[in-house]
Amino acid sequence: MYEHVDDNWICGRYGEDEPWMLGAVNPPVFESSLFAFPTAGALAGSLAAEDENYVYSRGTNPTVDLLQRKLAALERAERAKCFGSGMGAIAATISSLVSAGDHVIVLGAVYGPTTQFLRYLEKFGVSHTTVHTGDPAALDSAVRKNSRMLYLESPSYMRYGVVDIRAFAEWARGRGLTTVMDNTWATPIFQKPLTMGVDLVVHSLSKYIGGHSDLVGGVVAGPARLVRPLALTEYQLYGAALSAHEASKAIKGLRTLPIRMAAHQERGLRVAEFLVEHPAVRAVNHPGLPGHPGHELASAQMTGFSSVFSVELDTEDVAEVGRFVDALRHFRIGVSWGGYESLVNAPALTTLDSVRATMEIPVGLVRLSVGLEEPATLIADLANALEKP
Ligand SMILES: Cc1ncc(COP(=O)(O)O)c(C=O)c1O
Repeated sequence: MYEHVDDNWICGRYGEDEPWMLGAVNPPVFESSLFAFPTAGALAGSLAAEDENYVYSRGTNPTVDLLQRKLAALERAERAKCFGSGMGAIAATISSLVSAGDHVIVLGAVYGPTTQFLRYLEKFGVSHTTVHTGDPAALDSAVRKNSRMLYLESPSYMRYGVVDIRAFAEWARGRGLTTVMDNTWATPIFQKPLTMGVDLVVHSLSKYIGGHSDLVGGVVAGPARLVRPLALTEYQLYGAALSAHEASKAIKGLRTLPIRMAAHQERGLRVAEFLVEHPAVRAVNHPGLPGHPGHELASAQMTGFSSVFSVELDTEDVAEVGRFVDALRHFRIGVSWGGYESLVNAPALTTLDSVRATMEIPVGLVRLSVGLEEPATLIADLANALEKP
């Protein structure tokens, strides 16, 4: 056993000194849907704890399990369960915590399909209220006798506002609510919500953790008392399993996660610093900028900043936003983020006006994911697009 375990180690060799790996420096991909047993009794015993035993790969697979152990260690969690997508993890986590008649409180702007899923749950009698506030006491008016869960994201979706994680988690605990947080933006390298009182953390592995835009996956991490039941029921029954191949790609992604995040942070800030000074830009929503209203809090609860942020162009004209996006040559136009390539996405061009309005997203808001290209090239690209008439 090794005494000292740091995040770099966890992203690398942690969990890999197992006899079955035969010293392979790249963990084997267990391409088997099925694991056989010497006796029926052994099979029956394994089925009883299928989250811990290799029975069938919709349940647990050794390659996926290795990824789970690394992700749990990174989040300082007892357990982690991987899913075939971030939404798979989010949907299973929420449904494991609520029953018909329950109520969920959503804090601020969260990933659109998460809200859509909560709306979908209305047909099963689960309601939710979204509250936009920086003050936990203001949530008291949203709590009902049947409230079970507080769901949040920090920094928040598209606007990148910073939530006081400790304060809200403490508020929720005091009222018997389970707190679930989406930590995809920061990654466990820069933020560890479970150490701040959050009960369960969810991620899309499809972003920075995978890191190469070549996989879709998700994870939930937290105490065994919460992760085990959902691994044995919602995970099994929804069937949103992560394949061994996708897990293997995520394990490779983890190897470079710490250095990629350092590079993303540096490049993202250089681009943000250029934009904040530009006269055609109204605001830059990047919590790593000293002028951002949440910067102090962000610096206290995160150890770094990723490179996805939004820019508010000084315009109310959708066509002008379109011209800016189309003028970019190095930023590719697309959803998702967290890979090598820099990306741009403008909700005014891709989201219904009514949805944009409920999320309080202005017309001129453009999301950038700064990739690993040379920042000077990206800055020149943005400067050129901002100057277009
Ligand atoms: C913050 C956030 N959470 C969750 C998800 C969902 O993840 P996936 O696309 O892997 O289902 C996304 C995807 O864009 C996201 O941006």
